[in-house]
Amino acid sequence: MASAVKPIFIFLAYISFHLSLIASKTKDTTPAVWPLQFHSILFMNNSGTLQKVDLWYDWPNGRNFNIIQNQLGKLTYDLEWDNGTSYIYTLDSNKECRVLHFDVGILRPNWLDGANYLGQQEKDGFLCNVWEKVDFIWYFEDVITKRPVFWAFYTGYTAHVMTFEVGAILEDSQWQAPVYCFNEGEEKRKKEAVIESLGWSDNHQGNLMRGISSVSMTL
Ligand SMILES: *[C@@H]1O[C@H](CO)[C@@H](O)[C@H](O)[C@H]1NC(C)=O
Ligand SMILES: *[C@@H]1O[C@H](CO)[C@@H](O)[C@H](O)[C@H]1NC(C)=O
Repeated sequence: MASAVKPIFIFLAYISFHLSLIASKTKDTTPAVWPLQFHSILFMNNSGTLQKVDLWYDWPNGRNFNIIQNQLGKLTYDLEWDNGTSYIYTLDSNKECRVLHFDVGILRPNWLDGANYLGQQEKDGFLCNVWEKVDFIWYFEDVITKRPVFWAFYTGYTAHVMTFEVGAILEDSQWQAPVYCFNEGEEKRKKEAVIESLGWSDNHQGNLMRGISSVSMTL
């Protein structure tokens, strides 16, 4: 009798061991929630146009900043508020500003929830877990540190994460759009035209990030 019971226990132990392996595997393959506040330097490639972006994510204050240095070119500020308003401006003598209104706020810290796990892949020399969300973004996270390493939008626009400083905050005074963003009239339309001619109105990181929010919400 005892000898018949024993194999069953061994079998049960075997099964539960494997179930816990499956459980821990599932747990590992959920993307890390974004820290509530961080600073990241990104190298972006938009079909061969290169940019360095300082990303300041500040969820408790409902704001997100992309400070974009185009290679040997314009320095552009893209300040996004959770109420849907974005200010896109330069701080040079051209005094360009464009104000955009979106129906969605900034990305939630858990914006990657529900992403499809695609397995592991090496990226930029790091072993990463990879996810895809709503055919909009492909996201690579370091297997060991859980830090993001790379993401790519469906447009081919890519981001390589160079630094990731958890808890870093940009001081309040830096989150102020310049006064010419609040001017009305002809002068403003002229300035908006300048920024529009740069292709800023649709295909940049800020808009695409907002796009993920809106696509995720409608699903
Ligand atoms: C940028 O992306 C293009 C493809 O869109 C690629 O041909 C090019 O090599 C990339 N440049 C860099 C510096 O990665
Ligand atoms: C959203 O918040 C910003 C910053 O406080 C403000 O400048 C902007 O006018 C607000 N937008 C709306 C639509 O209330």
